Amino acid sequence: MAGSLADGTPLAPPPGARAGAWRALEEHRRRIERVRVAELFAGDPGRFERLSFEVAGLLVDLSKHRVTDETLELLTALARAAGVEALRDAMFAGAPINLSEGRAVMHVALRNRSARPMLVDGQDVMPQVRAVLEQMRRFSDAVRAGEWRGFTGERVTDVINIGIGGSHLGPQMAVRALRPYADGPRVRFVSNVDGAAIHDALRDLDPATTLFLIASKTFTTLETMTNARTARAWLVAALGDEAAVARHFVALSTDLEAVSAFGIDPANAFAFWDWVGGRYSLWSAIGLPVALAVGFERFEDLLEGAHAVDEHFRSAPLARNVPVLMGLLNVWYGNFFGAETWAVLPYDESLALLPAYLQQASMESNGKRVTREGEPVTWHTGPIVWGQPGTDGQHAFFQLLHQGTRLVPADFLVAARPQHPLTEHHDILVANFLAQTEALMTGRTPAEARARLAATGAGGATADAERLERLAAAKSFPGDRPTTSIVLPQLTPRALGSLLALYEHAIFTQGAVWDVNSFDQMGVELGKELAAALVDEVRRGVPDEGAHDASTSGLLAAIGRMRGLTGGS
Ligand code: F6P
Repeated sequence: MAGSLADGTPLAPPPGARAGAWRALEEHRRRIERVRVAELFAGDPGRFERLSFEVAGLLVDLSKHRVTDETLELLTALARAAGVEALRDAMFAGAPINLSEGRAVMHVALRNRSARPMLVDGQDVMPQVRAVLEQMRRFSDAVRAGEWRGFTGERVTDVINIGIGGSHLGPQMAVRALRPYADGPRVRFVSNVDGAAIHDALRDLDPATTLFLIASKTFTTLETMTNARTARAWLVAALGDEAAVARHFVALSTDLEAVSAFGIDPANAFAFWDWVGGRYSLWSAIGLPVALAVGFERFEDLLEGAHAVDEHFRSAPLARNVPVLMGLLNVWYGNFFGAETWAVLPYDESLALLPAYLQQASMESNGKRVTREGEPVTWHTGPIVWGQPGTDGQHAFFQLLHQGTRLVPADFLVAARPQHPLTEHHDILVANFLAQTEALMTGRTPAEARARLAATGAGGATADAERLERLAAAKSFPGDRPTTSIVLPQLTPRALGSLLALYEHAIFTQGAVWDVNSFDQMGVELGKELAAALVDEVRRGVPDEGAHDASTSGLLAAIGRMRGLTGGS
């Protein structure tokens, strides 16, 4: 195993039970790295049937991966050695598997549609989950029906969700994805502390008809609290009475004391609990903007879809457990082929925000460098996640996917049936979805490129053989670029719920194999601390003596001068 981590630590397999399975995979990779996936298909008519799976109505095709049956056996052996099943069972049992924070990880309880109790600290949390869902139903129904009125007696036409990270990305992505179902008030999202965000969002709104949702698990996040204060000042200035806040502000949070300290009536607060991680909170009260936009029944469909995948994840054997296999494939490429990134490419404009959502879900969960027990790792953990919808990406970065030097495993997603009447467009979209994964896998050899140049006469102008060779080299594709294809019958709330749960559990599986705690996010804290300390210096435009390195002090002073806070320019 050659190579090193960012800090120079030489790569080495995880110790203990994982080591044997890891070494077997290294050895296996050496044996199959030259095997062509196209040849695997040619020699195995059952490959697609065997390596594509149906789960909760979604088709997940893993057959275009650089794997044989043996690869999957070795990968599932690694999952077994890593204790994926035991950790999964511990999660469903409400054990405090978030070791660093001593918390259970129970977002699956939020979408538990069975009669099964879900225990945290020996207590069934389902009654409180159902109570908040009922509160969300009543509130969203009332707002949508125009029964909930603003301070001046007008109905709500616009909702602004103020939150960031897990209190923003999930609902924003889901509201965008489900836009064809939107039949409630308009819902917008403000997250960034950059004043441009809230300034733009408020510009064309009428305070009398605007409802603010302040979404924050902790109710202390600087960005959210700053935006919430600005929104409150805007509302009170326009409506001329502090009492207006009670009709225009609701809170989604685990800290109801902080909510009330902010001035929001606890009666207008929707609770969730510390066993819901921020990036896993779409299914909680944090999903309220979704219920407002598309109706509570559709929000429930989202929960149903996720629950169907939860049932699969908790019961299917590893070898046929789709999220487990998806997670293991990321391990395969990241740890055995040196892949650094993972691309998410939805062939669906409605899923435009899915890559950003999965960035947080994966990178905040698995971008870790110590094990669950606090030992430094000697293997790579979470990949860099990126992506954007096709076909736009094809005209931007697909060149590198097809012919670059790096291996980029990619997920391609598409809905079989569109949510609009333009079937001609959808045929072209689906054709591109299929063409890209086929091209990435099969590639084109220089000989094929040469033959094609000859056949089409495209090389006609290239009289000399040398130029023809150059052209053939440029027009050849190595192939064997691995892709997962995920086909949704249609992008319904239920299908979306299933899709997101698939990814959550794939990320869980990776974290378990890498032995990291996928449920804390200590890596965001240092920057937050430093920013809090810097605000005052930025206000004055002068760095505190000896407080920073020379670059930071120099930048701060220069910004102060440019803002006219201090002399010079
Ligand atoms: O900065 C990271 C983070 O803590 C995320 O994990 C979280 O989703 C986000 O900030 C927002 O936190 P909160 O919901 O407490 O405002």
